[in-house]
Amino acid sequence: MQQIRNIVILTGAGVSAESGIDTFRGGGGLWEQHRVEDVATPEAFARDPDLVLRFYDMRRAAIQEKQPNAAHTALARLEAEWPGNLLLVTQNVDDLHERGGSRRVLHMHGEHLNAWCTSCDIRSRWTGPLIDRPACPICAAPTLRPDVVWFGEMPYRMGEIYAALREADLFVSIGTSGAVYPAAGFVQNARELGAQTLELNLERSQGSHWFHESRLGPATEVVPAWVDEMLGGA
Ligand code: OAD
Repeated sequence: MQQIRNIVILTGAGVSAESGIDTFRGGGGLWEQHRVEDVATPEAFARDPDLVLRFYDMRRAAIQEKQPNAAHTALARLEAEWPGNLLLVTQNVDDLHERGGSRRVLHMHGEHLNAWCTSCDIRSRWTGPLIDRPACPICAAPTLRPDVVWFGEMPYRMGEIYAALREADLFVSIGTSGAVYPAAGFVQNARELGAQTLELNLERSQGSHWFHESRLGPATEVVPAWVDEMLGGA
């Protein structure tokens, strides 16, 4: 542990699963209930905006009913107490890391609680529905869309993420299936540059073989245990 100073953590839907937020893949996952092509692409939004807006309105309302779990709060504690640098990159569009106490969270797939105006290009905090085409608080145009990265769109803040990966001594992936790039490739980037790599997941993921170590179990158990270890059993 002594030589580890810079940590990059990547989280996915598995970290919020025990808060009651559906994951995407696997039995009962969101992509089993809805086709990606119907609700999560720019083409879907152009073809049937009501369907897409209703889908995200339901998801936006649902996450506001959920609470952070022990994995979220353990990661916040690590950020507060870790003496080196720590960057938390999440693919999740919920705000449970922030509500769990994390301060520095980079949402590479956007955020449910933001709306993006396609007229003025400004993002505003948004907690209500979008289906009735409310006016943008900045320019008043009725052109707000969910600020969520759809398939075929570029994830956010990739420059910052790759810069942090270049400096990382330890890369940790938590609760993600390793099915969606570029996030699924971060382990290879970090490893090529000499970082140690650790996966914490309920089961082996598509990318497990890339990691030096995989620890399997529910996030609310394996994440607090790992954080305790990092902070010297404190
Ligand atoms: P997935 O649904 O693909 O994978 C969730 C992972 O979490 C799986 O490997 C599960 O085994 C694991 N898991 C489930 N419950 C868990 C628990 N209690 N503790 C720990 N692990 C658990 O979700 P992501 O990998 O986050 O993108 O999906 C990546 C991206 O695909 C999402 O950000 C989204 C989706 O399409 C966009 O919408 C752009």
